[in-house]
Amino acid sequence: MEIKLKSLRLNEIKEGVVAGAVFEKEEIPQEFKKFGDRLKRKKFTGADGECEDFQEEGRTLLLFGLGKKEEFNQDKVRKISAQAYSYTEGNKEKKLYLIAPEKGVRPAVEGAVLASYKFEKFKTKKKEEKEKEVKVEEITVIAAEDEKNSEELRIGKIYADAQNYVREINETPPNIMNPEKLAETAEKLSKENKLDVKIFDEKEMEKKKMNAILAVGKGSENKPRMIVLEYNKNKKDLPLYAVVGKGITFDSGGIDLKPSRGMGEMKYDKSGAVDVLGIMKAVSELKLPIRVVGIIVAAENMPDGKAQRPSDIVRAYNGKTIEVLNTDAEGRMVLADAIAYASEMKPKAIIDLATLTGAIVVCLGKHGIGLFSNDDVLSETIEKAGKTTYERVWKFPMWDEYKEMVKGIYGDVKNIGSDRGEAGSITAACFLQEFVGEKIKWAHLDIAGVESFESHSYLGKGASGMGVRLVTEALRNMKI
Ligand code: BES
Ligand code: MN
Ligand code: ZN
Repeated sequence: MEIKLKSLRLNEIKEGVVAGAVFEKEEIPQEFKKFGDRLKRKKFTGADGECEDFQEEGRTLLLFGLGKKEEFNQDKVRKISAQAYSYTEGNKEKKLYLIAPEKGVRPAVEGAVLASYKFEKFKTKKKEEKEKEVKVEEITVIAAEDEKNSEELRIGKIYADAQNYVREINETPPNIMNPEKLAETAEKLSKENKLDVKIFDEKEMEKKKMNAILAVGKGSENKPRMIVLEYNKNKKDLPLYAVVGKGITFDSGGIDLKPSRGMGEMKYDKSGAVDVLGIMKAVSELKLPIRVVGIIVAAENMPDGKAQRPSDIVRAYNGKTIEVLNTDAEGRMVLADAIAYASEMKPKAIIDLATLTGAIVVCLGKHGIGLFSNDDVLSETIEKAGKTTYERVWKFPMWDEYKEMVKGIYGDVKNIGSDRGEAGSITAACFLQEFVGEKIKWAHLDIAGVESFESHSYLGKGASGMGVRLVTEALRNMKI
């Protein structure tokens, strides 16, 4: 699908679908004026969610309502653009023209590209069916052809492509996308995007004493992997940032087995890891003038005769001992080793992404990402990025009293705060902080609420890929 920027007038467009939008009570744009009467008859007011279509001379005009000007946010552009894309595809048209409102170029591209995503690789289709499919071939964003808009178009394309790439991998079921396959996927990306890659198998991790990862992986036939991707590895004068992702390819809970209802959702427990792949893809395609190391810990959490048990004690990579009081709190264990490993590289900041706790879904529902950090500048950069990409984050406290809650009984730290799950997301973050190297700036993003949706205005159903645009945007604007 080709995506381009053009400053066009409506009468220059002879075919396809043209989508525009107006605010409530705003004048209908000159170009749509001749539909004014018809619009009035339909009582079109420009309210949020309104949409009218007009066919004329081989092209279709779509006019959307943007709602009140004071209540505008760029996510409305993503929604409209996605709707326009689906309309175009549904009507088997090949060309879509999006008239971008001010500062709307990037979200217009994102909305359409995100709406074009489909996960159909396991649907057996007949040849005739495939031949009948008409794909949207060209999207033209209508706006001034200046440098700013071209750059925004480029960013929008790279962001949305990276997000779709992540969604595809995350949707792939756990019998296929196991730790080894995730490592192969990372290798493929590294070849395509000229990244450096290292894969540690279980033997390598034994040598390195990454015992927390190994403990989590013990109950599965699919052995764990640690994946280290590097962008601009040899440009040592550039600032280094680390992104770390939880890659539990399936979380059954282990010996503390989860209830069967909804267990299948736990294929998305690798969301943080695949987000890291997407971030590395986006950062390298944007050619950001920074150095980035992406660390993925991939393991499968299964119950078995060889699985770890509640009451086990293991020594993590940084030498601290972890008391395993619940085998379902496995994400923080694999991250413990990964964060300690990342700290050794002395990055300017570490950002980890993880579907870490059910408690964050209790707090924020499906509309927000939990943010935990030891640095204000870092967290403000992430919060600001979240406003731009509309992957909204909410910062939680990490008071000393919470840190007390993860102190070990027989070991140094325990992997749950309290049996009743009090402040479950915060104590999980406090556990992670025990493995952050001294003086290292760190932020943890608990993405458990947003990794997938039943239905979403422009992401539809299934894996969302949320977190990719957020962290890439934060890295693009990083001031530390
Ligand atoms: N992967 C889960 C968290 C999760 C829950 C992600 C719901 C997405 C949706 C994590 O490994 C987990 O099981 N956490 C436990 C922690 C508890 C045992 C302290 C939880 O949240 O119940
Ligand atoms: Mn778990
Ligand atoms: Zn998990």
